[in-house]
Amino acid sequence: LGVLHHRNDLSGETVLITAGGTREALDPVRFLGNRSSGKMGYALAEAAVRRGARVILVSAPTALRPPAGVELVPVITTEEMRREVLNRTDQASIVIKAAAVADYRPKQQAEQKMKRVGPLSLELEPTEDILAEVVSHRHPGQLIIGFAAETENAVAHGRDKLLRKGADAIVLNDVSREGIGFDSDRNAVTFLTPHRALDLPEMAKRDIADRILEEVLGLRRPQQV
Ligand code: CTP
Ligand code: CA
Repeated sequence: LGVLHHRNDLSGETVLITAGGTREALDPVRFLGNRSSGKMGYALAEAAVRRGARVILVSAPTALRPPAGVELVPVITTEEMRREVLNRTDQASIVIKAAAVADYRPKQQAEQKMKRVGPLSLELEPTEDILAEVVSHRHPGQLIIGFAAETENAVAHGRDKLLRKGADAIVLNDVSREGIGFDSDRNAVTFLTPHRALDLPEMAKRDIADRILEEVLGLRRPQQV
């Protein structure tokens, strides 16, 4: 029923979605990474294709098969994701940044596999904030949606992030909840805009994806006050 109901409401749109967790190399065999499975971003890409959009999926490594019909742009590091995203934001009417982006990368990369010696400290340097850069280059009518994973005070941190980054909405994951999020096929999120916090209760990620896309399209309709 849902599929018929939504059919083609995204036709004419180009949706750029980022997914997965970026990886920052320490040496040829090791990296700093995170627990993102990419499932939420891939579910969004699949749902957007089903609804008639052209979909560009800029994906950090995942164990998932890319949904049929997407234009897949594989990347590994934050810097690669940044470059590929910024090269394509002009084409996108909707940008959804579901990727879990590394905040830091090792300041140095060893050319050879590092040997086990005594205690080791790593020096890290911050990565660029891709979402903030996308917002600073935004073109008229473009919708920009961020994601945030929080382990405490989710709504307060999410609101702060929404304002700080200047996105139109933030999809908030409370990752302290057990059994959902990360590697799960289910999720529960809060769709945060400057005007409201809409709780989307636990459901399959593919259903969450459709609900998120509905709310994103809703941002185009005049706000009720
Ligand atoms: N993001 C990004 N580039 C970064 C870090 C984050 O584009 N270097 C994006 C993510 O893809 C996500 C949003 O910003 O859509 C929020 O990510 P999050 O990690 O929650 O925000 P941070 O600003 O990194 O804040 P925190 O200190 O809580 O990690
Ligand atoms: Ca972060």
